[in-house]
Amino acid sequence: MKHLTSTKDLTNDEILEIFKDAKEFLDEKPRDLLDNKLITTIFFENSTRTLSSFESAVKRLKANVLKLDISKSSSSKGETLLDTIANLNSMSPNAIIIRHMHSGIADYIKNHVNCPILNAGDGKHAHPTQALLDLFTIYEHFNGNIKNKKILIVGDIKNSRVATSNIELLQRFGLKISLAGPVHFMPNINLPKYTNLNDCIDDIDILMSLRTQTERHQKSIYASLKDYASDFCINKKLLKDKNIILMHPGPVNRNIDIDDEILNDQRSLILKQVKNGVAIRMSVLKKLILNNN
Ligand code: CP
Repeated sequence: MKHLTSTKDLTNDEILEIFKDAKEFLDEKPRDLLDNKLITTIFFENSTRTLSSFESAVKRLKANVLKLDISKSSSSKGETLLDTIANLNSMSPNAIIIRHMHSGIADYIKNHVNCPILNAGDGKHAHPTQALLDLFTIYEHFNGNIKNKKILIVGDIKNSRVATSNIELLQRFGLKISLAGPVHFMPNINLPKYTNLNDCIDDIDILMSLRTQTERHQKSIYASLKDYASDFCINKKLLKDKNIILMHPGPVNRNIDIDDEILNDQRSLILKQVKNGVAIRMSVLKKLILNNN
């Protein structure tokens, strides 16, 4: 049984196949590919994009979605996660999509079900479909010529599952990654690191800004995120007329991560990432449910 708990579950060839399907799915037409299949979503953390993107993908493939509302589930009565999963698994879904605040949960449950598990984000660990849609957005923008493109990831990298998954995936496809942010947001990995955006902004093709993950901080780091923004908010003064594309997985903290003016700039691909995400998730669901061997 093939699952998608991290980007490492897919080979480069499999990812290029996913991109090929996703490109077709960008037409947003409904397809009968998963007619009568049942997809269960369980989100223990809030979500706007990932949950609605998966639901859109399921509906465009003519499958049915069973959304467990955690706030009304028996988790509040003390039911363990494994018991919740065992009960949902007994209803014979064709896939289970899970988001959880703890790293490793998707890998933990995959041995207890009879269907593919799709990780929609687990703690700081991984967010594989986000990284796939990010790479697909870059791949589409540069017409597939992505080898040696230079990407700067800015923000709370240490606490970001989006960063973890992108660092694994983008390096595998030959992109050159640099990191920028305050030292306390830097992971202990061997990549070029900067604490001043002016030192690294001139020599990049792609800038990926990330949200400060305050919900994952053990203690409050900034009295106000404006202190962070004074050094790391992406604004017109920094970008000038540079020929780069700007990305962000969302949700954006406006005027903290990215300035209002730059969010409306034509170099911003943030809403294109969201559109591409539905196509990527259709493609991933198709692969895991129809071609799983
Ligand atoms: N990018 C992302 O995971 O956004 P949500 O938290 O809204 O799903």
